[in-house]
Amino acid sequence: MQFPEYRPRRLRRTAAIRRLLDDPLPGPERFIWPVFVIPGSGREILIEAMPGQSRFSPDRLLKALEAPVKNGLGGILVFGVPEVEHKDANGTAAANPDGLVPQTIRAVKKEFPQLPVFSDVCLCAYTAHGHCGPLNAAGDVDNDGANRLLAETALAHAAAGADGVAPSAMMDGQVLAIREELDAAGFTDTILMSYSTKFASAFYGPFREAEASAPQSGDRRGYQASPANPRQAWIESALDEAEGADILMVKPASLYLDIIAGLRQRTDLPLAAYNVSGEYAMLCATAERGWGELSAMVRESVNAIARAGTDIIISYWANRYDELIRETV
Ligand code: PBG
Repeated sequence: MQFPEYRPRRLRRTAAIRRLLDDPLPGPERFIWPVFVIPGSGREILIEAMPGQSRFSPDRLLKALEAPVKNGLGGILVFGVPEVEHKDANGTAAANPDGLVPQTIRAVKKEFPQLPVFSDVCLCAYTAHGHCGPLNAAGDVDNDGANRLLAETALAHAAAGADGVAPSAMMDGQVLAIREELDAAGFTDTILMSYSTKFASAFYGPFREAEASAPQSGDRRGYQASPANPRQAWIESALDEAEGADILMVKPASLYLDIIAGLRQRTDLPLAAYNVSGEYAMLCATAERGWGELSAMVRESVNAIARAGTDIIISYWANRYDELIRETV
């Protein structure tokens, strides 16, 4: 193939020719929408750092789900935002079988029985110090102690009817601890979607505002994967697969396309990519300043994430699919 006989521009001359050849954008069924729930009823609090996203009380979440579910949303991932007085050193409230997340799961499954409901399993929103597990005397997260609490938390979510649980604490052995706890209680069908490859990213800022879950001191680099060490990322994923994860996850998404593509080569498990709060806020802020067109930037970035080889895209764009992503011919 050589110029001047071959001219690649022929195949992109018109919109109709391009449409014939382009990969389709991922459909709404490939998206999981992360949702934040707060106690009470009739409450919706906008998240300032994430325009278009709110914290909802369970009843208001049901309302907010109507349109996206009708339009084909693939699923949701539930995050609880407990009141400050429910936080303690161990994050005990996370495992309450009648807590906010189990209540929400029951309400959503009742209203939308077909909608896949996943729950985030972590302790950082429930510990007073904001770390993802209880601390030992040295001030480090007590790995095995965290695993026990994470397993109890996952069990409370499974018992409430979650289709899947998604542990995000990055503790060693958390997948095995959860799988054993679920199986022993008879929840052998509950899917385990592991945040297998979660990096210690600077792009979680807006989420930590939404969840009020920033660590009070220190950071999470002692347990989340190092962004500059991809080989550890492969090991993390392989361990979770061996421990019984059903779905592996890379997080963040658009900054880690090489990791998604590499993992796609290394495993036959389904993959999810978490398009995180900072990736969302970055595009919102650019558009707000008039430096880019939001819909075009969103389409290009979700296309890139899909192209890297993920099956599921966990993204805050999910509830805005019709507004920003769906193509009209
Ligand atoms: C909890 C958790 C975090 C996110 C998902 N689960 C925050 C963190 O680890 O600090 C981030 C999600 C986002 O930024 O959209 N451990």
